[in-house]
Amino acid sequence: MKLQKPRGTRDFFPDEMQKRRYVEGIMRKLTERWGYEEIKTPTFESTELFTIKSGEGIIEEIYAFKDKGGRDISLRPELTAPVMRMYVNKMQMTSKPIKLYYFDNCFRYERPQKGRFREFWQFGVEIIGGKSPDADCEVIALASSILDALNIKARLHIGHLGVIRSILKDFDINVQNDIFRLLDKKDESGIKKTLDGFSNSEKADTLIEIINLSGNDSIKAARDLIGDDVSLRELDKIVELLSIYCVDPKIDFEIARGLDYYNSVVFEIYSDELGAQNQICGGGSYQLAGLFGGKDIVSTGFAFGFDRTLEVCNVNLPPRIKVVVAATDDARAQAIKTTLKLRKYVPTYFDLMQKGLKSQLSFANSIGASHAVIIGKNELLENKVTLKVLGTQKQELVDLKECIRRITGMD
Ligand code: HAM
Repeated sequence: MKLQKPRGTRDFFPDEMQKRRYVEGIMRKLTERWGYEEIKTPTFESTELFTIKSGEGIIEEIYAFKDKGGRDISLRPELTAPVMRMYVNKMQMTSKPIKLYYFDNCFRYERPQKGRFREFWQFGVEIIGGKSPDADCEVIALASSILDALNIKARLHIGHLGVIRSILKDFDINVQNDIFRLLDKKDESGIKKTLDGFSNSEKADTLIEIINLSGNDSIKAARDLIGDDVSLRELDKIVELLSIYCVDPKIDFEIARGLDYYNSVVFEIYSDELGAQNQICGGGSYQLAGLFGGKDIVSTGFAFGFDRTLEVCNVNLPPRIKVVVAATDDARAQAIKTTLKLRKYVPTYFDLMQKGLKSQLSFANSIGASHAVIIGKNELLENKVTLKVLGTQKQELVDLKECIRRITGMD
């Protein structure tokens, strides 16, 4: 029996890895230009880090186990909590705002389907200590600029949890949390049913009206329903500031986010090119440092689901240069020396199976090599190589310097 990989995980072949690395590179470069620095946290953490405030949904999906020392350990389901743990441990004295980014794998025990995996990758940023609306707007604008860089057409929705909290302020916090969970599942009848037994059950109608608002004047319409509210004012400012960044979001009070740590502005980005799992990015403003034993501080950030982002991005991969040095038996030593020189510039293969010249060349074709550098008796005599461009089959005898210049396009 052949062993199989675990459900919900994937193997990535070289072509896929080339695309993943290329897209990752675009995201990294852009984010660094916005002034974010990369960090890395462990793949596993104490389970407690994720159970304190991540929310029931995440806790049900966590890969948790006891290590050999009997400690409760979990594979990270996301990176915001680990980043905030690292901040509390080591970075509280760093001058603010702190702007960090990460690209790493996450693990969630979810039912695998198209776009939903048990191991997936997130590309995310966190601003620790930035103020609203400036910090929120910067991360939202960065997310939008990543979409542009990757040629992605997607919808950016922004909401504010304070609006929902203010409608539900007379209800017990557990009821509020239940409602947020139902909101996240877009379960309007569940919301009605939950609030039905309470004396102020009319709030369910206000809530449902609010979450169904759409269009440019949603904030004004919300104000008509619940009166002037501090969260609505915050949202107003965010929209105004985002227009300077040329970002035009859709106001959407239905965004609840599946994680419990958010407390004000929240946003999600959806692609219509994906199926049911169409959310490519999610984020918002939160406070976690206090819960992790530090001094409380406002933070904000987002994470792109990298695997879903890859599905919808439109990038042209640069042509791949792959050189095969092919040699006759008596030219092998010279071929190794040539290979070493070429490897200073381009990926270069040299025959490791003692094949004849003909089969070395057909190997070059079979791996999609861009060039073959051929060395035989004549080349040895002339101290040159034959450079063959495999796409056009054109070949020419040139010295190695010229060969390198032609392959790399360098002068
Ligand atoms: P999240 O919405 O849970 O937020 O995840 C972010 C993104 O990860 C989602 O929008 C989705 O694209 C992707 N994703 C989630 N689960 C899966 C899965 N099973 N398979 C494939 N992709 C998936 C967070 O994790 C927050 N930590 C984001 C954040 C950063 N908030 C503030 N800072």
